[in-house]
Amino acid sequence: MADDRPFHWEYQEPPVEREAFRVEGGRPLRGEVPVSGSKNASLKLLAAAVLTGERCRFTNVPEIADVRVMVDTLRDLGVVVDHPGPNTYEVAAGDVDWLFVPLEAAAKMRASFILLGPLLARFGRVIISNPGGDRIGRRPVNLHVEAMERLGAEIAYRNGYYFARAPGRLRGGLVTFPDVTVMGTENAVLAATLADGHTTIRPAAQEPEVDDLITFLRKMGADVVRTAPDTIEVEGRRRLRGAEHRVIADRIEAGTFIVAAAVTGGEVTLRNAPCDHLGAFLDVMDRVGVSISREGDDISVRAAPVGEYAATDIETAPYPGLATDLQPPTAVLLSRAAGTSHIHEAIFEDRLEWLEELRRMGADVSIVDDHHASITGPCPLRGSEVEMSDLRAGASLILAALAAEGESVIHGAHQVRRGYENIERKFLDLGARIEHVSEG
Ligand code: EPZ
Repeated sequence: MADDRPFHWEYQEPPVEREAFRVEGGRPLRGEVPVSGSKNASLKLLAAAVLTGERCRFTNVPEIADVRVMVDTLRDLGVVVDHPGPNTYEVAAGDVDWLFVPLEAAAKMRASFILLGPLLARFGRVIISNPGGDRIGRRPVNLHVEAMERLGAEIAYRNGYYFARAPGRLRGGLVTFPDVTVMGTENAVLAATLADGHTTIRPAAQEPEVDDLITFLRKMGADVVRTAPDTIEVEGRRRLRGAEHRVIADRIEAGTFIVAAAVTGGEVTLRNAPCDHLGAFLDVMDRVGVSISREGDDISVRAAPVGEYAATDIETAPYPGLATDLQPPTAVLLSRAAGTSHIHEAIFEDRLEWLEELRRMGADVSIVDDHHASITGPCPLRGSEVEMSDLRAGASLILAALAAEGESVIHGAHQVRRGYENIERKFLDLGARIEHVSEG
């Protein structure tokens, strides 16, 4: 009998564990680059699909390592995940075998914790590992746990695992956060969709990925409304239905390629760019003097001669403020600007350490404390051997290497595969000299 299982299109990741990029810098990037689907929307959408037993279909999902970690985690739970073609995933959580999210998943990716809310809401219990994730700060999940408890969950913590249960059913309530938390908001929204009664969440994160999740939940029949910029209200339902959804474009990838054009003296057009989600970042580009025009979903970037960029101060903030994930790429641009720029990284407590690697490439960097640094330019960057510490710093080291004179070797390249689809192919298509080097 023919195998009637759907064809699984499996992305073949490079076989090496340790890998590096070798980059020959000093070449202007020119051409067009497609912006992929959002990593930070996709991971939550895949998790949301466990709220129903019906099939959900997602398109424009980026082929990146973090998506594969989430898919593997869902499959390990017993959830059916089909991958019928590139960038397309179908999820059917008819039932699950285990309600256990292991350390292996959490150690690879903090976002595995987003399964807490939907599994608790749908099945009433889950054992989930305390996540590891990026090295950018303590990264606790206390606000997620407190939100679940506000919705009636009982959660105990033992030996690195949260043992969560919802006697009967979660019940709606008031979930307040001391500060904005993106995934804390998302976990609360996901849990509330099946809770008994009304839930109010504030301050609720305003990131576009949160609204993309809300759009999908409403397609599933959930009653979720953003009633004020920082408030989300949910009326719980008994069950939700399957739905289809196209993931929004990745604003962090878009910002990364805008800086790539600006620091290499190039001229690049981004296709399918999330122009409406880049307001604060485009304001910074404007202050620095990067020439940007937009037409529909296309953003065109024309670099100014190095030295003509102006220094400016930046401060990261929850959306609609400047995204903390765009602080590292912006720092590379500021190293090319005339004058001293001050960086206030207000969200995470050690997302500035990577600037030491930028200093090795010649940048005039001063790290004041966990949240403050300054950069004086314009500084000629020179090719060097450097190491990626996390996803966003890693992508930023590639930008610096592309701008630098000479050859760079960037170790830890697997970091960028977590969140940037086909990154070296996209740079090669723009005329960059970048190659993947296995390190055995
Ligand atoms: C999301 O992380 C993103 N990740 C991050 O992107 C992004 O940098 C961050 O939001 C801020 O925009 C995903 O969506 C998968 P937070 P999240 O909760 O939700 C503290 C990337 O590279 N906090 O908004 O984990 C926390 O330590 C990643 O794509 C608590 O104290 O971030 C931080 O200082 C990096 N307790 C602040 O809140 C908690 O329970 C904001 O974190 C939760 C958070």
